[in-house]
Amino acid sequence: MSSLREQAAAAAAVVRRQIGGVEPAVGMVLGSGLGAFADELTARVEVPYGDIPHWPGSTAIGHAGKLVSGLLGTTPVIVLAGRAHLYEGYSARRVSFPTRVLHTLGIHSLVLTNAAGGINLSYSQGALVALSDHINLQGTNPLIGPNEDDWGPRFPDMSEAYSKEYRALAKEAAAALGFTLPEGVYAALSGPSYETPAEIRYLRAIGADLVGMSTAPEAIVANHMGLKVLAISCVTNMAAGVLDQKIDHEEVLETGRQVRTRFTELLKAVVPRLRG
Ligand code: HPA
Repeated sequence: MSSLREQAAAAAAVVRRQIGGVEPAVGMVLGSGLGAFADELTARVEVPYGDIPHWPGSTAIGHAGKLVSGLLGTTPVIVLAGRAHLYEGYSARRVSFPTRVLHTLGIHSLVLTNAAGGINLSYSQGALVALSDHINLQGTNPLIGPNEDDWGPRFPDMSEAYSKEYRALAKEAAAALGFTLPEGVYAALSGPSYETPAEIRYLRAIGADLVGMSTAPEAIVANHMGLKVLAISCVTNMAAGVLDQKIDHEEVLETGRQVRTRFTELLKAVVPRLRG
């Protein structure tokens, strides 16, 4: 069995061959219902996940399952339209493999997006929130296993997992577009069941503003390798028990589609300003 590093090199080599001489500066991961952002790129080249060795395919509904290389304005980016999740049966190490490949391809910054439930009562459905931090309650960690020392240390620091500078840039960009971008702490759970109202009360008590089933593994691995991270959640629904209604995946996807314009404008304004 090849090492993770060898696997990432093999995957990056295949991607590189397909995308020609493009040297991506920023990697982006699009969450549930947010995949349409990939259409904004110019000079697009698409690589289906199935063509990339060792890549964890995304089976979740609302996730396209392709890597898209292209330009956002003049910034070369790679967008992952669709991600793998723990609840699909992948290990945290495998879920974050695409982040390793993006790093191997040379990105200096990673933008993670996700659909999340709103725990903080000041949020409303459709709000965009910049993650200030996370609480990893997935019961696992993507760095479990042998450490690749030239990627990063065995015990990486996580005290600024989500770049303060990038959050400030994102807030500025949102203000210029006429809306407020609050910050929040994201609780990462494995899913796939949504939370119970008691779990949401517990998450609120421990300081979480948002809840979701992704993002933490990628953010941990990005920090391990020294990448700067910006993460933006779309509050697709209020978390369980906040409103007297059930949570439904179709609603999650629909809210993602409704915020598409604002979300796209924000990313278009921020991503070219990320300098690593
Ligand atoms: N909980 C967990 N993950 C989610 C939610 C939620 O309420 N909404 C979108 N992703």
